Amino acid sequence: MWCLELLIPLLLIISDANCQWNIWLPRDISTMTNSCVVIPCSFMYPSGIRPIRGIHGIWYFGQPYPQLFPPVVFKSLTDVVHESYKGRTKLLGDLNQRNCTLLIGNVGTEHSGRYYFRADIGGANKYSYPDFAELKVLDQPNIDLPEEIVSDESLELTCYAPDNCPDTTPEIQWMYTDYLPDPEFSSEYMEESNTAVISNTLTFTPRPMHNGQLLGCRVYYPNTTLVYERLISLDVKYSPRSVWVNVSSEVMEGSSVMLHCEVDSNPSPRISWMFGDKELLWDTASYISLPLDDVTVENEGIYTCIGDNGYGFMNTSLYLAVKYPPREPIVNDSMTVVEGTSLALHCNTMGSPAPTLTWLKDGELAGSITAGELSVLEILEITPQQTGQYRCLAENEHGRASASLNITVEYGPVLLEESKCTVVREGVQCVCVAAGNPEPTIEFYLPDLNITINETNSRFNFYAHTDGHTSTAMIKLREKGERADNSGPAVNVHCSMYNIYGRESVLLELQQESEFKIFIFALTVLLAFPFSITLSFLFYFLGSILLYTNIK
Ligand SMILES: *[C@@H]1O[C@H](CO)[C@@H](O)[C@H](O)[C@H]1NC(C)=O
Ligand SMILES: *[C@@H]1O[C@H](CO)[C@@H](O)[C@H](O)[C@H]1NC(C)=O
Ligand SMILES: *[C@@H]1O[C@H](CO)[C@@H](O)[C@H](O)[C@H]1NC(C)=O
Ligand SMILES: *[C@@H]1O[C@H](CO)[C@@H](O)[C@H](O)[C@H]1NC(C)=O
Ligand SMILES: *[C@@H]1O[C@H](CO)[C@@H](O)[C@H](O)[C@H]1NC(C)=O
Ligand SMILES: *[C@@H]1O[C@H](CO)[C@@H](O)[C@H](O)[C@H]1NC(C)=O
Ligand SMILES: *[C@@H]1O[C@H](CO)[C@@H](O)[C@H](O)[C@H]1NC(C)=O
Ligand SMILES: *[C@@H]1O[C@H](CO)[C@@H](O)[C@H](O)[C@H]1NC(C)=O
Repeated sequence: MWCLELLIPLLLIISDANCQWNIWLPRDISTMTNSCVVIPCSFMYPSGIRPIRGIHGIWYFGQPYPQLFPPVVFKSLTDVVHESYKGRTKLLGDLNQRNCTLLIGNVGTEHSGRYYFRADIGGANKYSYPDFAELKVLDQPNIDLPEEIVSDESLELTCYAPDNCPDTTPEIQWMYTDYLPDPEFSSEYMEESNTAVISNTLTFTPRPMHNGQLLGCRVYYPNTTLVYERLISLDVKYSPRSVWVNVSSEVMEGSSVMLHCEVDSNPSPRISWMFGDKELLWDTASYISLPLDDVTVENEGIYTCIGDNGYGFMNTSLYLAVKYPPREPIVNDSMTVVEGTSLALHCNTMGSPAPTLTWLKDGELAGSITAGELSVLEILEITPQQTGQYRCLAENEHGRASASLNITVEYGPVLLEESKCTVVREGVQCVCVAAGNPEPTIEFYLPDLNITINETNSRFNFYAHTDGHTSTAMIKLREKGERADNSGPAVNVHCSMYNIYGRESVLLELQQESEFKIFIFALTVLLAFPFSITLSFLFYFLGSILLYTNIK
C-alpha cells in the first residue's frame, strides 16, 4: 500500500508499474562547464523485496553494467570513484527514501554523456536501471535563431542557459545591442522534467543594415568568475534596396561602352540588364557589366537594371545617348516650276546632337538657319531669278553633310530692251531679243504687208539664235522692194515671241542710227558752204522732214 502512495505524487505514467524495478530521472540535462549539476533521481524496486542492511547504489558513466567496467561516478558503499570524478560527486538524495539525486561539481565537457544508476537492495537484489540521464556540459549558451531572418519583420532571438546547479543561478545578458532599433528583452524560467532552463529573448526589427552584425549572449554566475559567451552574426535577408547604375551618358557612334550595375540585397539577386523589354544579360550576382561594342544609333535608349532576389525587386534605368555626325540630308528632287508658283522645299536629316540646317542658293544664304531634323524653305511666287541650285547643309559638332537640288523656273517670253529697229545703210535692221523658259520662238510681223517672217521664210534675211533662255532674232529690210507698191522701206515691224507660257507682240521702235544722222549732217554742211547758211539750214530741215515722213 505505501508503495502506491509514494508513486502517485511522482508520476502517474509509472503508476501502473506496480512497484517493479523502475527509475525516474531526466532523459536530458545540461549545465555549464565549471559549474555543477544536480541530476534528480528516484527509483523503485519490487515491493516484495525487503532491504537487508539499507539500500546502496552506484552511478555509472556510459554503461549500466558492472561487468563492462564503466567508470564509477559515485558509489555509496565506498568512496572509490573514477579518477575524473574524484571529489566532484555527492549523493544528495537519501537512498533509503529511494532518492538517488546526484550532484556533480566542477563539471567539464568530458563529463558529457549518459549516467546510469544501479540499486543494491541487499543480497542478490541488485539492479542496473536501463534508463539514463544524458548530461550535456556546455561551454557556450545556446541561441535559438529562426531559420530565416527577414528585414523589417520582427525578430526574436532567445538565449538559453541551463539552471541545474542549485548553488548559483545564471544570468543572461545580450551584448552589442546598443545600435539596435528599440530592442526589447524578456527573461523566462522554464522547468521541464525537473530540469530548469532560463532564457532571455531579444526582440527587435532588423533592417538591411543589420545584415552581418554581430550579436552576443553572455551567461554568467553572479559573484563568480564563470562567464560564457556566444556570438552570432545576423544573416538578414532583404530585398534589393539600391540598384546602382551609371549615370545617363553620351557616347560617340562606333565607340564601346561598359554599363555597370550593382545591387545591394541579401541574398544576391538575379541581376539583369534590359533594353526595352529585351533582356540582354543576366547573372546571379550583386554586380553585372554590360559591354556594348561598336555602338550604333540603335543602341540609344533606356537601359534598365533589375535586381530580384525573391524577397523583392528593384530597378534603375539610365539613358544612353549616341552621338553622330549629321546624315546626308534628304531633299526634294530637282524640279522645274512655272513662275509664280509657291513651293516648300524640305530638308530632312538626322544627327545627334540635333544639327543646324541651312539652305543656300548658289552658295548664298537663303532663308533662316534652323536647328532640328527638318527644315522647310518656303518660296512664294517664284521668279525666274530664283532658278538655281539649292543646297541644304546640316552641321553639328561631329561633322557636316549636305544635299542639293536644282530648281528651274519656266516663264513666258519677256522682251529685252536691246530690241529695236535701226536704220542702216542698206535699209532697216530689226533686232528682237526675248527671254523665256523654254526659250521663246521669235517671229517678225509686218502689218503693212500682212506677213510673218520666221525661219521658214527665206525671202527675208532672217537670222535667229538662242543662248540659254534668251532668243535673239534679226531681220534686215532693204529700203526698196519690200513694199508691194515699192513706196519705201517697211519699218512698221512687230516682234512676236512665244513659248508654251505665252505669246507677246511688240512694236519695235525705230531708232535713228547716229551714222545716218552724221551722214545727213555732213551732206548739209558740204552743201551750205558754197551757198548760204540759211539754205543749208533749209536743206537740213528738208532732210529731216524727208526722214520723218519716210519713217511714218
Ligand atoms: C530528493 O533529494 C533532493 C535533495 O535532498 C531533494 O531536493 C528532492 O526533493 C528529493 N526528491 C524527492 C522526490 O523527495
Ligand atoms: C554577491 O555578493 C554580494 C556581496 O558580496 C551580495 O550582496 C549579493 O547578494 C551576491 N549575489 C548573489 C547573487 O549571490
Ligand atoms: C560606368 O561606371 C563605371 C564605374 O564607375 C565606369 O568604369 C564606366 O566607365 C562607366 N560607364 C559609362 C558608360 O559611363
Ligand atoms: C521598374 O520598377 C517600376 C516600379 O516598381 C515598375 O513600374 C517598372 O515596371 C519596372 N521596370 C521594369 C523594366 O521592370
Ligand atoms: C518636297 O518634299 C516634301 C516631302 O517629301 C513634300 O511634302 C513637298 O511637297 C515637296 N515639295 C515640293 C515643292 O515638291
Ligand atoms: C544642278 O545643276 C548643276 C549644274 O547646272 C549640276 O552640276 C548638278 O549636278 C545639278 N544637281 C542636281 C541635283 O541635279
Ligand atoms: C492677212 O493675210 C491673211 C492670209 O495670209 C488674211 O487672211 C488676212 O485677212 C489678211 N489681213 C489683212 C488685214 O489684210
Ligand atoms: C513660219 O510662218 C509660217 C506662216 O506664217 C508658218 O506656217 C510656219 O509654221 C512658221 N514656222 C515656224 C518655224 O514657226
